[in-house]
Amino acid sequence: MRYYFAPLEGVTGAAFRQVHRRLFPGADRYYMPFVSPTRDHCFTPRQLREVAPEVNKGVPCVPQLMTRDAEDFLWAAGELKAMGYDEVDLNLGCPSGTVTAKKKGAGFLSVPEELDAFLDTVFSRSPLPVSLKTRLGVHDPGEFPRLLDIYAQYPAALLIIHPRVRDDFYRHPVRLDAFEDALRRYPGRVCYNGGLVTAADLAAVEARFPGLDAVMLGQGLLADPALLRKARGGPPASLEELRAYHDALYESYCRRFQSPDHAAFHLKELWHYLLGLFDGREGAARRLRKARGAAEYRGAVEEIFRLPLRRDAEKIW
Ligand SMILES: Cc1cc2nc3c(=O)[nH]c(=O)nc-3n(C[C@H](O)[C@H](O)[C@H](O)COP(=O)(O)O)c2cc1C
Repeated sequence: MRYYFAPLEGVTGAAFRQVHRRLFPGADRYYMPFVSPTRDHCFTPRQLREVAPEVNKGVPCVPQLMTRDAEDFLWAAGELKAMGYDEVDLNLGCPSGTVTAKKKGAGFLSVPEELDAFLDTVFSRSPLPVSLKTRLGVHDPGEFPRLLDIYAQYPAALLIIHPRVRDDFYRHPVRLDAFEDALRRYPGRVCYNGGLVTAADLAAVEARFPGLDAVMLGQGLLADPALLRKARGGPPASLEELRAYHDALYESYCRRFQSPDHAAFHLKELWHYLLGLFDGREGAARRLRKARGAAEYRGAVEEIFRLPLRRDAEKIW
């Protein structure tokens, strides 16, 4: 089975991917958080800091685009091909209100004819293979068969299905029956994504859906960076490994942001998941939440690393 790291905007940026890849290899690919191509067909400096090949050296990455404009998509795909990427992913899942209001991300699923026309143009002219990362619909999984009929007309490199609708955001339990139905109907390669936290969760999905081409993991892999090693029969992360991982991320973010306070702020987002690997976390979690600046942050982190480590992460997000 191929395992992919899901894109998580604000968490799995280039600096994160480098450190995770070095200390916990095991993800076959890292899908990059979305980039919205600009109308003037020019990547912004901020976008370039994430997609430039130099910052992703040695890490197998797939860039992701979020747009409903086929020309903008095709321009960006051309640039990404020139940078050396071999696939580009389309975001059809982002549930954020500001995104869906513009009919992008999961909002694109609400206008199937427009989506069909977009895919027709993109697949007839894309310089790179295109994968699609989709939800089941906007309001109801009953929307998915229609969307699948549209997807099935085009040679997607991979259909990554997050079996929730937009209105579920990330809260509602994943809809495995609807996923099973989709897997039966769709003729191409399918990747499952959503809600997997432990190696046992992963094994259960693989056992239930033997036709899968790949499995994508996001928050569970943030909670337990060694999850894929465990899934392949290896040992869980030791405290020393987790410490080294944290410290490497902290140093890398200090360099990236030129500010220890900013690095600490950025890492708090990761702890939102990673704390699930520690028992008796309540006091340390409170201290971490309240920490202002790098010195208080480091104090809270010391306290966390004195806590007992769990074998599997607990879902706390
Ligand atoms: C904070 C956050 C940021 C995300 N950013 C992206 C993104 O940029 N592109 C995307 O396709 N999905 C994004 N997602 C969705 C994840 O890739 C994934 O589909 C979702 O978290 C469910 O999988 P998981 O339960 O394994 O995390 C994001 C999710 C979260 C929670």
